[in-house]
Amino acid sequence: MTAADKQGRTILFHSPGSDKAWPVEIQKAFPAFKVCTQFADAEPGDVVAAVVWNPPPGMLEALPNLRLIQVVGAGVDKLLSNHLPEGVPIARLVDPGLVARMTEYVLMHSLALHRQMPDLQRAQRERRWTYLHPTPPKRTCVGILGLGVLGMNCARSLSSVGFTVVGWSKSRKEELDFPCYAGPAELDQFKQQADIIVLLLPLTEETENLVDENFLATVKKGAALINVGRGKLVVDNALIEALDAGLLRHAILDVFRTEPLPVDHPFWDHPKITVTPHNSSSTHPATALNQVVGNIRRALAGEPPQNQVDPARGY
Ligand SMILES: NC(=O)c1ccc[n+]([C@@H]2O[C@H](COP(=O)([O-])OP(=O)(O)OC[C@H]3O[C@@H](n4cnc5c(N)ncnc54)[C@H](OP(=O)(O)O)[C@@H]3O)[C@@H](O)[C@H]2O)c1
Repeated sequence: MTAADKQGRTILFHSPGSDKAWPVEIQKAFPAFKVCTQFADAEPGDVVAAVVWNPPPGMLEALPNLRLIQVVGAGVDKLLSNHLPEGVPIARLVDPGLVARMTEYVLMHSLALHRQMPDLQRAQRERRWTYLHPTPPKRTCVGILGLGVLGMNCARSLSSVGFTVVGWSKSRKEELDFPCYAGPAELDQFKQQADIIVLLLPLTEETENLVDENFLATVKKGAALINVGRGKLVVDNALIEALDAGLLRHAILDVFRTEPLPVDHPFWDHPKITVTPHNSSSTHPATALNQVVGNIRRALAGEPPQNQVDPARGY
């Protein structure tokens, strides 16, 4: 009898909004296992791996022989706010498809902001012929808050089309070909340079409400903001006040405190806000399945998963 024979034979896939190919492909990779998409169909003691996105509270705690919690996404803030079984490793996805789609989104909106598209669109709506002189991207500095998997790829792509780039992260990054600042003490230096601020931070105790009144009071005058991290990084009222006061010229928002964004939320029809429905990027089995399958195999072999999350750090 092998080690795998002694352990459970069920893989739970709980991510109701995800591509339906996920459980099918996982089943193909593990033909000797039962892949359940409903918690009610699984025998809790038989579940060895749970592949999840925002599972209901208590679900994972009810699985006594769990060896792996694999998140089908990059952010783990909601998962970590759940009660989780102690000692079970949590892995996030590093999906090349997700990275590529996010990079497209940040690049597309950075170019649109650089080329003053919000002003041109406003002028068109008002039938005003407003000539705005185009300038090279080098004159626009895009500042990226969060130089992880996503932020770093965005930085490279923005640099490759000619933007000036600066970055900020928790730990210092060495040997980058753009300036990088680290920690709260260097945040002001970062802000003094960024014409477009991109939020690609995880939501943690340290980053929640980072973009508040104080933060916005010291951005470069007329800077723009792109939030693709999490809604709770930004204090909504402070953002609206900064836009109304002209401290910020425009905000592109893909993530919100409450999703879907409530119909009566002032962001919807604010003239200086662009809303997208948390679709800047997404995960697909075609580019992420190998990693999930690999991590389940590692868990079955008693090995730690790739891209393990540190719950104490929060990401
Ligand atoms: N809108 C969407 O559809 C979408 C899709 C995917 C992800 N996201 C969001 O994007 C976030 C980032 O994803 P990722 O894969 O790039 O994450 P990641 O690889 O874990 O990188 C996170 C980055 O944030 C930095 N950071 C964390 N806490 C910080 C703090 N207190 N001060 C300064 N920097 C801090 C980290 O610094 P160190 O490098 O020093 O650790 C790291 O550079 C996710 O957590 C998720 O919330 C959104």
